[in-house]
Amino acid sequence: MIRLPAGLWFLGAITLAQSPVLTPPSAIAGASSEELTGLVVSLEADRLLLADAAGKRTSYRLQPLTSLRRFGEPGAAIGEFQPGEQVRLRLRGGTVAELSDAISDQVQRKTPFRVVSQDRDQYHFTVEPIDGATGAPKGERQTLGYGKPTFLMQRENPEFVFRVAEGSRFWINRGAAPERSGPVAREVLDDASRERFGRQQRLRTLARFDAAGAPARVIAGGPIPTVQLGTDAVTWAQRLKSGARVRVSNLTTPGNARITMLAADPSGTPPILQLRDALGGLGVGEYVRVTPIREQVSFKQDVEPILQVNCLPCHGGRGASGFSISSPERLRAGGPRGKGIVAGKSGESLLYLAMSGERNPRMPPDRDATPEQLELLKRWIDAGAASEP
Ligand code: HEC
Repeated sequence: MIRLPAGLWFLGAITLAQSPVLTPPSAIAGASSEELTGLVVSLEADRLLLADAAGKRTSYRLQPLTSLRRFGEPGAAIGEFQPGEQVRLRLRGGTVAELSDAISDQVQRKTPFRVVSQDRDQYHFTVEPIDGATGAPKGERQTLGYGKPTFLMQRENPEFVFRVAEGSRFWINRGAAPERSGPVAREVLDDASRERFGRQQRLRTLARFDAAGAPARVIAGGPIPTVQLGTDAVTWAQRLKSGARVRVSNLTTPGNARITMLAADPSGTPPILQLRDALGGLGVGEYVRVTPIREQVSFKQDVEPILQVNCLPCHGGRGASGFSISSPERLRAGGPRGKGIVAGKSGESLLYLAMSGERNPRMPPDRDATPEQLELLKRWIDAGAASEP
């Protein structure tokens, strides 16, 4: 643990005073830590509107370093939390230090649920929290509704008929549904499925921080400036090494970027990065974004996570339109419209052409690839598209 210089607390206090936050009576506790649960009404980059059990709404402030956990893993994006979903907040000094879905909370407490019974006529089921290790009951039973929006995964496969056997173990995201009174199950995952969602969440976080940078805060200036990342970046930071080049940019004016090297391996939780060069215009207490600069693009580290997260849902196995990315060979082979990859030539590689929109069908279908993703992909193919490392 690093102790923040006193000046930082002072800075925090000023910002708080400038932007009044509605704080519920239970959370007036100064800088001590406080926990509460509620339903998401809306969530933006720096503000969460939460409804409590009685429907009363309260607004909370988020920071760039707020930890966002889903499926038991840190580093979720804001957009992954949906209105109506139940979340748990940890508040520190009046701002949200951690926001997690119900499953992350169950994982941290090692408390999954065991199914007691299911009533198919009423579309609800009853569960009780249990000790993850011993299976002993650990709290009150709960009855949860289910319906069309409920997503049930067993043995890593989605189930289209909601059927949960008595005694089976699940991790459950909860929330509210407009047409039902009482809590409903949103995501119901057995152990194997929860593991897989967690793994994907981890990859998504690494890919996002690699491409868009990880948020950090300048905690020391001088000739060896030091920045602190959030706790969500622990796994990501472990891959950075002394001598690696990074781009440090201001959150609000990214044009103001500095390229520098790491002076030492990252250390600590949350991780601390010591930099070689002075940061010029960036002052202590400012939030920044740290983006690694790769001399070489790696398949395993850069390309595979992008494909797994954005394409695998439809192009695993046989693959939509006969294009499968389930092995490097099949990825190279491509589909009926052409070769997936022509080594050295992104302009002739269907993978790149589809993602950049230069050829139809533009992929992925529901959103555009980011410029950072496209650049990584282009550099990797143009450099010869090696599948290792
Ligand atoms: C939601 C499902 C879905 C996702 C996600 C998706 N695709 Fe597709 N993809 C399709 C479908 C459906 C087609 C066939 C469309 C057609 O033939 O008009 C297709 C076709 C393609 C083709 C053409 C193959 C050929 O030769 O006909 C390529 C290349 C492709 N996708 C690449 C990708 C890549 C790369 C990603 C990830 C960045 C991706 N797709 C994500 C559903 C998806």
